[in-house]
Amino acid sequence: MKCKQCQFFYKFASKYNFTMKNDLFLRAAKGEKVERTPVWLMRQAGRILPQYRALRERLSGFIELVKTPELAAEVTLQPVNLLGVDAAIIFSDILVIPEAMGLPYLMEEKKGPIFPKTIKNWQDMEQLKIADAESDLGYVLEAIKITKKELNGRVPLIGFAGAPFTIFTYMVEGAGSKTFSKARKMMYEDPALAHKLLQKITDSTINYLKMQVLAGADLIQIFDSWAGILPPEQYTEFGTFYIDQICKAIQNVPKTIFAKGAFFARKELAQLDCQVIGLDWNMDITESRQIIGENRTLQGNLDPCVLYASFETIRKETRKMLQLFGNQRHIANLGHGVYPDTDPEKVKCFIETVKEF
Ligand code: CP3
Repeated sequence: MKCKQCQFFYKFASKYNFTMKNDLFLRAAKGEKVERTPVWLMRQAGRILPQYRALRERLSGFIELVKTPELAAEVTLQPVNLLGVDAAIIFSDILVIPEAMGLPYLMEEKKGPIFPKTIKNWQDMEQLKIADAESDLGYVLEAIKITKKELNGRVPLIGFAGAPFTIFTYMVEGAGSKTFSKARKMMYEDPALAHKLLQKITDSTINYLKMQVLAGADLIQIFDSWAGILPPEQYTEFGTFYIDQICKAIQNVPKTIFAKGAFFARKELAQLDCQVIGLDWNMDITESRQIIGENRTLQGNLDPCVLYASFETIRKETRKMLQLFGNQRHIANLGHGVYPDTDPEKVKCFIETVKEF
């Protein structure tokens, strides 16, 4: 594309999604008018599809898949091709950030992530670097570029990262936890250390998300999976404070904040520089709309367990949810990631019910 006019056209066209065939998701995110509600599922890439498991079995493990851009792109496209969702989400994990900072993780079959080394004191924290996206996370950026090419404008691509607080819990706990008492202990015993670590995570995440946008991500979502374990005041200080920095630093694409369990922070999150707020299934839809106001798009929030019910119940519950959200400023999704043992046919039923509504 040598000609200056062509270059100008393509820049203009991609900014306004002229080249996107199905841009319902982006329009809904920005609060523009849509003909129908767009739909996708958190954790749609991997987990539920037999085609994912077949590919995964050929490899040494999850991390190899994440670090092989061609295969990560293939897995990203599977739900678009097989389920007909209105957005793709890049296949990766929130834990690539700790690894890029110098704290590698292992993914244990049926157990989930484990960090052999954790952050216990100032010395551990000081040894961590601020991640450089190109040199430390180039494999994700490459996967985004390949995916964008293969999507060829069919649907938008979502980039993502964990919220600093959720990443902090993994780096201090070394795994998931029921109480998160190690991470929470640090916040009370040595808040300055917790803040220093959170700031390093935030700086790394900003570098990473900026590069995801440059590589082609059309929207970015922040997953704060463990937001709900904190009291409101602590969430303001250790949670929202850092998400706010990310929202301010990432420009030119819409941003979604999904803070699971943080019903108490809905008003605060709605003040951030973001366009979409994710709701989990414990959050009342009408009340959330009142608290958040009309100027944000809401995403969610069907109980993932509804997908264990009969096809009839799935249709009924999905329609009930759609009615409560209304037909604008809503992106249909589950209230958390789809569970691994969900029947893909039930997932399709959910997607089709939204599309037909
Ligand atoms: O949404 C998508 O489909 C994109 C891919 C994606 C993965 N992880 C792939 C994955 C995304 C967005 C994530 C985010 C993630 N990872 C979160 C935030 C969202 C949430 O669910 O709250 C969290 C907390 C993690 C950490 C993590 N990664 C856990 C606890 C586990 C083990 C259990 C599981 O399956 O979730 C993972 C592994 C993981 N990440 C898998 C996949 C497909 C399964 C690994 C495998 O194939 O063996």
